[in-house]
Amino acid sequence: MKPIKVGILGLGTVGGGTVNVLTRNAAEIARRAGRDIVITRASAKDLAKPRICNTEGITLTNDPMDIINDPEIDIVLELIGGAGAVKDMVLTAIANGKHVVTANKSLIALHGNEIFAKASEKGVIVAFEAAVAGGIPIIKAIREGLSGNQIQWLAGIINGTGNFILTEMRDKGRDFADVLAEAQALGYAEADPTFDVEGIDAAHKLTILASIAFGIPLQFEKVYTEGITQITRTDVEYAEQLGYRIKHLGIARKTAEGIELRVHPTLIPERRLIANVNGVMNAVLVKGDAVGPSLYYGAGAGAEPTASAVVADVIDVVRALTSDPENRVPHLAFQADALADIPVLAAERIKTAYYLRLNAEDKPGVLADVTRILASHNISIEAIIQKEPLKGETAVPIILLTQITLEQEMNAAIVAIEALSTVSGKVCRIRLETLG
Ligand code: HSE
Repeated sequence: MKPIKVGILGLGTVGGGTVNVLTRNAAEIARRAGRDIVITRASAKDLAKPRICNTEGITLTNDPMDIINDPEIDIVLELIGGAGAVKDMVLTAIANGKHVVTANKSLIALHGNEIFAKASEKGVIVAFEAAVAGGIPIIKAIREGLSGNQIQWLAGIINGTGNFILTEMRDKGRDFADVLAEAQALGYAEADPTFDVEGIDAAHKLTILASIAFGIPLQFEKVYTEGITQITRTDVEYAEQLGYRIKHLGIARKTAEGIELRVHPTLIPERRLIANVNGVMNAVLVKGDAVGPSLYYGAGAGAEPTASAVVADVIDVVRALTSDPENRVPHLAFQADALADIPVLAAERIKTAYYLRLNAEDKPGVLADVTRILASHNISIEAIIQKEPLKGETAVPIILLTQITLEQEMNAAIVAIEALSTVSGKVCRIRLETLG
């Protein structure tokens, strides 16, 4: 059979890794796909830049459109990243009848609805396994492996850089900025690292996971997004003393009122497997009504782990080339005309438990005032601890764990607690999930 011709846009970390994996494993890949897959063309902004891959035999260009408009190319691999000019490139590739494989989470999270609609019109596939959790085949697991289930919720450590920072802060007491610089040097961090530390990257990935889990359109703008920049070593230590780890989680949960979509630091019991996912590793815990909880773990970034997902998508596309487009696995797991209009809940309507830390004067009645406020907002206390004053301070830190409550009630309670004359500064609030 004629070999399939692939053109790669972008020869950076992921593009270079993909060249290496496709070349090194060519024989096994052909046995799986049923025909040879060859990279005939690739584009890079700076052709003189040193590469992690050997580009011998690949025709190089610095204009991606050369590849997109080449009638010989069957599959375009978009490995440039970012959602600006790349969107037009992908739409043009689709208009030219090419299948597209992308690792681009922001592109899919922000423009996926439009891209998939155009791809369906043209009968081409847009595959995006590498967009979420790098090498972990989580899209395939949810979209195909769990397709008999009603997914109830999922929770994932889906930003390796953030997890690396929190792990190093906990294990080695290192500073935030110092660890971030190391993640950048290792090539894990986004071009703009605020995407990692402010939760935007995780929100892109959560948007995608929630769509395929619940059969809803991609709605990035509705994700409640909080990063890890406010997390201090003190809270990491207090959490640990209480039997919890602080992880930056993306959580999607289907409730009777609607869907919760949220990304934020979260206390989770240290006995949970996912609490022990450290460094740059990713993990996604999925709860289906039939399967129960299942956990997917692996490298969430890096050249070859991400290439592993890209190449698997290429093989899937090759296998589906002669299939009827109507009968392919739908882009978002559910048939496009069966996507549901389930509301995504506003942040105030989220229900979760909380860890609160406040600094209060050490005198009779202070705790009673705080607990009275919580009770007046229907907030039940799970645990309360008073710590020693920090060095050079007279106020004492008070740590409270609450039971599940409505975020709106917690917001109001925090305003009232901060207004107490015996409480100084802001109340630190971190959400808590038992993931049971
Ligand atoms: N910056 C991302 C991370 C890369 O740290 O997880 C993979 O998407």
